[in-house]
Amino acid sequence: MALPDRVVVDQRDIQKLGGRRAKYPTAAVVDALLRPLRPRCVLETTYGEGRFYAVFRPPYLIGVDVERREWLVRPDEFYEMPVWAFFHALREGRLALGRGPEVVVCDPPWGFWQRRLHYWRASAYGSPRLILEYSLRVAELAGARFFLLHWGEEGAWKKPPAPAGWRLERVVEFRPFTRYLNAGETRTFFALYSLSK
Ligand SMILES: C[S@@+](CC[C@H](N)C(=O)[O-])C[C@H]1O[C@@H](n2cnc3c(N)ncnc32)[C@H](O)[C@@H]1O
Repeated sequence: MALPDRVVVDQRDIQKLGGRRAKYPTAAVVDALLRPLRPRCVLETTYGEGRFYAVFRPPYLIGVDVERREWLVRPDEFYEMPVWAFFHALREGRLALGRGPEVVVCDPPWGFWQRRLHYWRASAYGSPRLILEYSLRVAELAGARFFLLHWGEEGAWKKPPAPAGWRLERVVEFRPFTRYLNAGETRTFFALYSLSK
């Protein structure tokens, strides 16, 4: 799936592609954004189930998450800790990565915040903004050239954030099925940045 710089992708269109893309639509978007970069190593700071890599599985995958979940795609390395702990451990040399990532991916738990559920848990995890901030610090420290952010429109921002030192390359607005089921506004956005320094 080739994409222009800014595009709206409807899940129903991905559905037509069939196969794993239809089954894991967000992975189809991640595939379209990451594959052209030909990354040998990708690090996600909010790894979850590794669902994003169900279509395109980079040759080497590093995951960080506060919880170890049932993985759909198994990472080559996994660190069970908050992203800020990971950042400090990396900076202080308490952990060393098997490979340096070309891309860092960040997908904070937006729904959590949007629905205002589980206050105590959300505050233990930190806000999406804080997770983003430390993910960018990880990307810079690890020498990544690209940063991929996924966020919800009703979260902290209505448009892509503009982190210092990063250039916005592409934006994909993703419209899931739930949009048509009276589930409220469920659009999310993917933003790809490149290091501008
Ligand atoms: C929306 S999910 C990510 C899903 C993932 N992109 C996938 O493809 O499966 C957000 C994840 O962020 C994790 N998380 C929440 N706070 C975190 C933190 N401070 N540091 C690292 N991971 C965190 C959650 O445990 C959750 O698995």
